Order: sequence, then C-alpha cells, then structure tokens
Amino acid sequence: MHVLSVSSLKGGVGKTTISLGLASAAYARGLRTLVVDLDTQCDASTGLGAIGDYETTVLDVIKNPQHSVVHKAILASTWNRTQPSKIDVMVGEPLAAAFDTPNPSLRDLWTLEEALSRVQNEYDMVIIDTPPSLNGLTRAAWAASDRVLIVSEPGIFAVSSVKRAISAVDEVHDRLNHRLALAGVVLNRLNSNFVEHEFRQTELRDIVGDALLPFAFPERAAIQQAQGAARPIHSWPGEAAAEISSKFDNLLSHIQESLLTTPAKRTRGRNHKAQQTEKVKQGWFRRSKKTDEVQD
Ligand SMILES: Nc1ncnc2c1ncn2[C@@H]1O[C@H](COP(=O)(O)OP(=O)(O)OP(=O)(O)O)[C@@H](O)[C@H]1O
Ligand SMILES: [Mg+2]
Repeated sequence: MHVLSVSSLKGGVGKTTISLGLASAAYARGLRTLVVDLDTQCDASTGLGAIGDYETTVLDVIKNPQHSVVHKAILASTWNRTQPSKIDVMVGEPLAAAFDTPNPSLRDLWTLEEALSRVQNEYDMVIIDTPPSLNGLTRAAWAASDRVLIVSEPGIFAVSSVKRAISAVDEVHDRLNHRLALAGVVLNRLNSNFVEHEFRQTELRDIVGDALLPFAFPERAAIQQAQGAARPIHSWPGEAAAEISSKFDNLLSHIQESLLTTPAKRTRGRNHKAQQTEKVKQGWFRRSKKTDEVQD
C-alpha cells in the first residue's frame, strides 16, 4: 500500500478535484483505493457519495486509531457501482477542525499513520485530501505518506505559496518521516489562451524546476458536473471528461513510477517512531512555525 497526500497551503486551488481525479484513475486501473477525507469541509466524502451524518468518521480515527474504529470510519463509495474494483472513503468530519492546530501533540501527529497501518493489506493506494494549511491535520497526513502532490493555480498568490509548501515537505522528510518525498507540483485550472496564466506557469517552472509536472489541468465544466453527480470522471460522458481522465491516468502513472523505489510495506516500528518523536520533542514545531513566518 502506498500513501499520497494531495496538499496546498492555499484554499480552493483544486486539492479535492485532483484527489478525486486520481482516485477515479486508480479505481479505473483496478487498484484497491482508499480516499481519506482529512479536510473538515468533507468535499471528498461528498464527491465519493458519502453524504449524511455518520456515526464513525475520521475524527474517531484520530482520537482512537483502533482496528474496529478504523474499519467503521471507512465506507464503500457509491462509485463502486460503476465497475468491479474497490474504492472506499474514510469519511470526513467538520469537528476534526479541533485537531488542526499549529502545535499538534505528538500523539495527534502519528495516529493516522497508525490507523493506515491497520488496513495496509486491504488497499494498493491511499489518497489523502488535506486541508489548505500546514497545521496538525496536514502534518499528520504527511507523517503517514510516501509522497506529497502539491496543487497550484496559475495565480500570483497560489504560486508564491508553493515554495513554502515544498520547504515544508523537505522539513517533514528530514525531521519526521524519511519515507516522504515530493511527487511534484501540478497546475490546475490552466487556460493557455490567457497570457497571465502562461506567465505564472513559466514563473512556477523557474521557481520549482523539474518538480513542476508536465500534466496541467484545464478548467472544464465536466469536472464540476461529475463531482456534482458524485461520479468518477472516468465514467462521465463526453470528450472533455475523456481528455481530463487521460490526464489523470498519466499523472497516476507518474506517481506510481516514483513510488517504485519505495517499499509498499509499512515498516515503521515503535522504536523508529520513538526516535522521530524525540526530534519533535526538541521543539521542531515551534521552530518551523517561526520559519514560516519569516518566509512570509
Ligand atoms: N480544473 C477545473 N475545472 C473546473 N472546475 C474546477 C477545476 N478545478 C477545481 N474546480 C472547481 O473549483 C472549486 C474548488 O476546487 P476544489 O474544491 O477541488 O479545491 P480545494 O483546493 O480542494 O479547495 P479547499 O481548499 O476549499 O479544500 C470546486 O467547485 C471544483 O469543482
Ligand atoms: Mg478541498
């Protein structure tokens, strides 16, 4: 099982859209796929057909990552009707916002990793849709991940936050989770007829170099229509949906290739966790927060 976080420090740039598109590609490819909805807006849950009040959610998992709780928080997506492979969702919960603090406890940082290790034989790919911040929930997602995909729009504010996000991934790799690496930066809502977008794309390439992936996603109504109907983009009719689906296939292939060097088995033991925890105890979180402020 491999775990991918889809993140950005800026809101509304397309994290949930890219998470759902990749989930659709993974599902179409026959991978046993789990989407973890860590965003308190619960949009990924909605897009996967998990709409309503659920007794057990990701909030319960964060509080108590026991086997039975983890399984109760995972539902079969309604997408499952469209083909025989498996796609599930760990349902989101608005009250999980209480855990999205700038200084998470050590326990809060590791509970998602612990929870996912309980289902590691049940899935091939886990995609975590994270909130638009670098607080506790995103840190917990990264502590549990093999790769982070950063999403950006071709606008000045989104582009300037990408650099900070990449530094934060490096920092989490160095100090917390050595398995973690950047999967790349993907541009969403690109309109190549728009000069400002071309300018921002070039600017982003200058800033992040090869990390900018050659798969930019254009603005398409089909994306919103499929999301509104809680259907995978791969099953949505029309040329635009087919074009977008094939881009998601390519993006997934790229991510899978980058994961070939990372063992699918999660080997983090208690000792390793204790070592990493010791580093966090030394005040890293406070320091990293200050660093972020300086960079602002
Ligand atoms: N390429 C696209 N074409 C058309 N609509 C898009 C595209 N990307 C995103 N959208 C729409 O833009 C809105 C914001 O996208 P999305 O919810 O994926 O962003 P987000 O980064 O997850 O936001 P948040 O930070 O609030 O979680 C949604 O209504 C989504 O349907
Ligand atoms: Mg979202």
